[in-house]
Amino acid sequence: MVTAPKSREAMKERSQDEVVVNIQNLYKSFGDNHVLNGFNMVLYKGENVVVMGKSGSGKSVMIKCLVGLMAPDSGRVEVLGKDINGLDQIALDQLRSDVGFLFQGSALYDSMTVRENLEFPMRRHRKKFANLDDTLPLVKEALENVGLAHTMDLMPVELSGGMKRRIALARAIILKPKLILYDEPTSGLDPITAKEIIELMRSIQKKYGTSALIITHDVDCARVISERMILLVDGINYIEGTYAELIKSEDPKVNAFFKK
Ligand SMILES: Nc1ncnc2c1ncn2[C@@H]1O[C@H](COP(=O)(O)OP(=O)(O)O)[C@@H](O)[C@H]1O
Ligand SMILES: [Mg+2]
Repeated sequence: MVTAPKSREAMKERSQDEVVVNIQNLYKSFGDNHVLNGFNMVLYKGENVVVMGKSGSGKSVMIKCLVGLMAPDSGRVEVLGKDINGLDQIALDQLRSDVGFLFQGSALYDSMTVRENLEFPMRRHRKKFANLDDTLPLVKEALENVGLAHTMDLMPVELSGGMKRRIALARAIILKPKLILYDEPTSGLDPITAKEIIELMRSIQKKYGTSALIITHDVDCARVISERMILLVDGINYIEGTYAELIKSEDPKVNAFFKK
């Protein structure tokens, strides 16, 4: 793996207890389809890291391994200091309450109102939110953060694609997670709506000081939001650096991402 000099220096300054995500030597195959072939990455507290890769390169597989939705063939995955593979279901659920996840697409439940969609992550953590009346202030706050306080009682079918994505974002942040995982947050949106989503991601990160791992193939999204980028090519972390560093690279595999 190639690391641009500036990023290497920045990383050296960070201490171990600031590590939010640590993926080491991650392997995952489906039959002959070797998707991840020793992928590594570290995410530090307060950082926005973008992992960019072509369609089908294993970005979603990587993020699923990260939250324990998929078991890797081998490798070590640590989130907020915990080894994911060593956790039982209760511990995994507990850890997930500290991790917000914006799934690819918006993945709202069509049969539930906006409020019910937002309450859904809390139902899974009943111990914390035994009485659903307690959730109302949190639902309101999350909706205000995405500028959609008036939609609480609407059904997803009544919302535009951009609004759905903002609701999904509100749902991802409702438990004030320490880490947010975004899987293609701008995909399928027109450029203006995509820009609005990116701005919201930035304002949320600023307000709550959350760390974020953003999976995207949207170069504009990466430019605006990332402090550091990792390119996933051939199942490995092929190169790592800031947007400014990577766009200057003469490596054809890196160039391919930035061609308009
Ligand atoms: N559950 C699965 N079973 C079999 N193959 C899978 C599964 N999930 C993903 N794959 C394959 O893994 C590769 C990477 O998929 P994915 O991580 O979704 O790509 P992307 O980078 O576009 O998110 C693809 O070839 C996909 O077909
Ligand atoms: Mg994907």
